[in-house]
Amino acid sequence: MTKRRPLIAGNWKMNLNIDDSINLVREIAAGTDQLEGVDVLVAPPFTALGAVRNAIGDSRIFLAGQNMHWEMSGAYTGEISGMMLKEAGCTHVIIGHSERRSLFKETNQTIDLKVKAATLLGLVPILCIGETLEQREGGQTFEVLKEQLDLSLNNYRSDGIMRHSTILAYEPVWAIGTGKTATPLQAQEVHRFIREWIEESFDTKTASRVRILYGGSVKPDNVKDLMSEQDIDGALVGGASLKEDSFLKLIRFD
Ligand code: PGA
Repeated sequence: MTKRRPLIAGNWKMNLNIDDSINLVREIAAGTDQLEGVDVLVAPPFTALGAVRNAIGDSRIFLAGQNMHWEMSGAYTGEISGMMLKEAGCTHVIIGHSERRSLFKETNQTIDLKVKAATLLGLVPILCIGETLEQREGGQTFEVLKEQLDLSLNNYRSDGIMRHSTILAYEPVWAIGTGKTATPLQAQEVHRFIREWIEESFDTKTASRVRILYGGSVKPDNVKDLMSEQDIDGALVGGASLKEDSFLKLIRFD
């Protein structure tokens, strides 16, 4: 079986000013200088992207946008295009985070357009999916996830191609910022389901290569158990990515 390289990604959301962002990424760069075998990524607010890119310098930290528009340019007040993210030095972009879906009414259809646009531009999409507590308690978890995957990756399915670099993130909505984490077994069960969906929709090789991150209250004290599950390839971290000591502990998850 292909060994997938772990990825620990920090989503800073709407936190940290430019100076704090620079300081944090410098600490992360210094703390991961000698570290092998794990990829590290940060997703600062748009206004800090350029400064963080400069602070990253030659260190191997990937830079991501937290969202993007699917058009390249135009009259879309308040939006940022994938091209602009690339210009700012991003290699990745988070798409369809549950906060975007619930607070900003993003749909699977617009998320699909964003994934397609990012891919065309050579930005690696980190597509987020996840069920609410109500859906989990109503026994609808797999149905909801299948629908999110089918519709948010509809363009990939029509083309019959999912790049192996694509990243998926399973983030149960009930675990984000709540301190409640899915147990490693609960997360593994879903990650396995997602990998099987990739295999059925594309092929075995793609399923064995695509990384699937877990997100939702990942902390230094639960990361090791989560990462020891076979289909969990990394973490998408909010709160615990805002301080260098906790984020560095997550990066050295064992
Ligand atoms: P959290 O956020 O780690 O604060 O729960 C995770 C996320 O929203 O990606």
